Amino acid sequence: MLAVLHASQLVTLAGPQRPRVGAELNELSIIPDGAMLVDEGRIVAVGSSAEIAKQVSATTETIDASGKTVLPGFVDAHTHPVFGGDRVDEFEMRSKGATYEEIAASGGGIRSTVRKTRAATEDELFREALKHAHWFLQNGTTTVEAKSGYGLSVEDELRLLRVIRRLNAESPIEFIPTFLGAHAVPEEFRNAKEQYVALVIHEMLPRVAEGQFAEHCDIFCEKNYFEIVDAEKILGAAREHGLRLRMHVDQLTDSGGAFLAARLRAETADHLEQTKSAGIAAMAEAKVQPVLLPGSVYSLGKERYPRAREMIDAGLAVVLATDFNPGSSPTASIPMILSLACTQMKMSPAESLSAATINAAYSLNRGEKIGSLEAGKRANFSIFDCNDYREIAYYFGTSLTHSVYIGGKRVFPS
Ligand code: NIG
Ligand code: FE
Repeated sequence: MLAVLHASQLVTLAGPQRPRVGAELNELSIIPDGAMLVDEGRIVAVGSSAEIAKQVSATTETIDASGKTVLPGFVDAHTHPVFGGDRVDEFEMRSKGATYEEIAASGGGIRSTVRKTRAATEDELFREALKHAHWFLQNGTTTVEAKSGYGLSVEDELRLLRVIRRLNAESPIEFIPTFLGAHAVPEEFRNAKEQYVALVIHEMLPRVAEGQFAEHCDIFCEKNYFEIVDAEKILGAAREHGLRLRMHVDQLTDSGGAFLAARLRAETADHLEQTKSAGIAAMAEAKVQPVLLPGSVYSLGKERYPRAREMIDAGLAVVLATDFNPGSSPTASIPMILSLACTQMKMSPAESLSAATINAAYSLNRGEKIGSLEAGKRANFSIFDCNDYREIAYYFGTSLTHSVYIGGKRVFPS
């Protein structure tokens, strides 16, 4: 047994057993002087310290959380954590005025990471990814959706998915795998996109499904990457293999991706920087969850953030994630994303937190197990050095993480 006692705030996010929408996003169910009892990796009771203290026995291990805030572990619902090398050179080029699109057109971008990823051994990729896993933990994240997408050949994509599987086994974080074979058209298919789409459908997807390497299938819908028709074919095939759908849409141009996500009843449509009112309405109708990635807008030095307020007003169950990747969003920090959500998208600190915990968990089909601190759920929680949860986004760029627990075990500091 483990007891957490005297938290200045125990932010439970207890509420309806479904993704939170509208005004619910502001309801965090905070217990002042809060406490929690954990047994065999699960939460058994949550309440005031006075109530919980009665259930503590001499053998119960206790954590004194006075002066600290306890939150559900963050759930990062969109990341690309396995890749070779970095793109620091492109970061510098952008600092001098080059754009992401220009850099990609001249041979950089996703393709440059594909070259470095293919050149690395599986062990090297794993060691680097394990370093990234540690970054997530340091920032209070306990569950991470992880995409492939820097291999772009049958064997290289499977290699990345094996690395994700190994991360799951050897790191304390739960990594939830997504197959992103349609991230870009690789160099060797430069003039043969149709053939690459066929390779994804007829060779990659069957192997991914057969080996149970992924729960979701994703695609990058964008000019010079994949069109709506490609997405229809690939995601249609993925669904037949039993995969759930996530999609990168309307990031750099509005290509109607939000409508397609609605038509395909995808779990999520991610990015949405260019999506307008009609696309938002279509997503609301189809109950597609938007995954907003303000880290990529910030890091690319762009100005247009997704219309979070309009999405919340339309009743969408908004999710926030890092989009951790070497090109457009090299951050593993949900606290940084919470800060951007508040300052750039005018979400309240409470709405932002709901979006990066309970709503993110539902988008990954894990809403019944994680994302809030309620009896019966997995004891994934993070303790921050502050009296009020709002300080986490307010003191941006400064880590307030005190410690992190997964299944009731301390995993940070290790
Ligand atoms: O989500 N947009 C496509 N994929 C990533 C960027 C990947 C990269 O630049 O390496 C994203 O922003
Ligand atoms: Fe992404």
